[in-house]
Amino acid sequence: MFFRQESCKMRNNEYLESTINEVVTSKSNKTRPQKTAPSRLVACLTFLQFAFAIYATFLLYYMSPSVDLRTKPDFTWATKLARSWKKFVIQPQVVSHIRESDACEYETIDFSQKKSNDVLMIKLKRELYNEVLDFQKRTSGSENLAELMRMKSKWSVNGPNIPKITVILNHFKRKTLCAQLNSLLNQTLPFHQIWVLSFGSPNEISFKRIVDSYNDSRISFISSSYDFKYYGRFQMALQTESDFVYILDDDMIPGAKLLQILSHVAGTEKYKNSVLGSIGRILPFRQKDFKFPSYRKFRSKEAGLYLPDPAYDITVDRIVQVDFLSSSWFLSSDLTKTLFVETPFTFITGEDLHLR
Ligand SMILES: *[C@@H]1O[C@H](CO)[C@@H](O)[C@H](O)[C@H]1NC(C)=O
Ligand SMILES: *[C@@H]1O[C@H](CO)[C@@H](O)[C@H](O)[C@H]1NC(C)=O
Repeated sequence: MFFRQESCKMRNNEYLESTINEVVTSKSNKTRPQKTAPSRLVACLTFLQFAFAIYATFLLYYMSPSVDLRTKPDFTWATKLARSWKKFVIQPQVVSHIRESDACEYETIDFSQKKSNDVLMIKLKRELYNEVLDFQKRTSGSENLAELMRMKSKWSVNGPNIPKITVILNHFKRKTLCAQLNSLLNQTLPFHQIWVLSFGSPNEISFKRIVDSYNDSRISFISSSYDFKYYGRFQMALQTESDFVYILDDDMIPGAKLLQILSHVAGTEKYKNSVLGSIGRILPFRQKDFKFPSYRKFRSKEAGLYLPDPAYDITVDRIVQVDFLSSSWFLSSDLTKTLFVETPFTFITGEDLHLR
């Protein structure tokens, strides 16, 4: 059974081959004496088929939505035909724009931290904070917001030097992208670009949908199935053409004046080489075994500070120098290069510590 089918196919192929041969030879070899009637019919049919194929190709080309008929003056016959046919063809919806309201997802992050009710702990932490603050006021000065804004700065919203800021967001699973984009679009100092990064995220498609829905050429989506981990965003920052980069964790929603304030401070003579942020840590004293004690180490004055810290009612109303920043980093584009002077101990975790 199998063999017979094979041989039958073979015969068909042979037959086709022979008829093609005949067509070819009948064209090239005019001295060929006689043509049989069936072979002429086959030649005719083949020619018609060939002609139709060419015609169909033209037609398809001219009817494709991406071809602008007005710019093609030649082939007017084909154009006319295509035009008349186009009416009958249902155009596929090429641009299906999704509105933000459809693409966006929101989640509220519970920032309410456990409040300590340990009187002694509150006392210890607040004393340590005041000690640090007093020292900084004495040695380098620690301005509050109003004082900072009165300082002379190279940058201003009103010009002549309006800073360009590239904001880099990094998303993995949280549904906070829209909240971030909305607040960034509402800044008193407009951003230059936003790069939304998604490395090895299971929600990549949804992030892309959201970015697309904003239809803003300044907002780009960059994704990879490879997880560049905590360093990826800082590596991307190396390539910005802005004056500043502002790198934000996915749980940080900036207030409307943040870019204006940060760039103003970064433009003062005093803070021009600083990395600015809104959450910081002051490292604890090292123990005898060379380890750092836990921040929550009970009744220890040496366990360092997390600023601001709602657990111990520590608010920060002036600029404070810390050992390292967490959750957001505002720095001049040139400074990003210095992050790579030392080889990181690991890429897996601890970007806060590496980037201090
Ligand atoms: C936008 O910013 C203004 C202040 O500049 C604020 O009053 C308003 O609530 C903000 N809107 C949103 C949607 O964040
Ligand atoms: C997207 O933005 C472009 C440029 O501003 C505009 O021409 C276009 O109509 C927008 N598309 C949608 C679907 O809103």
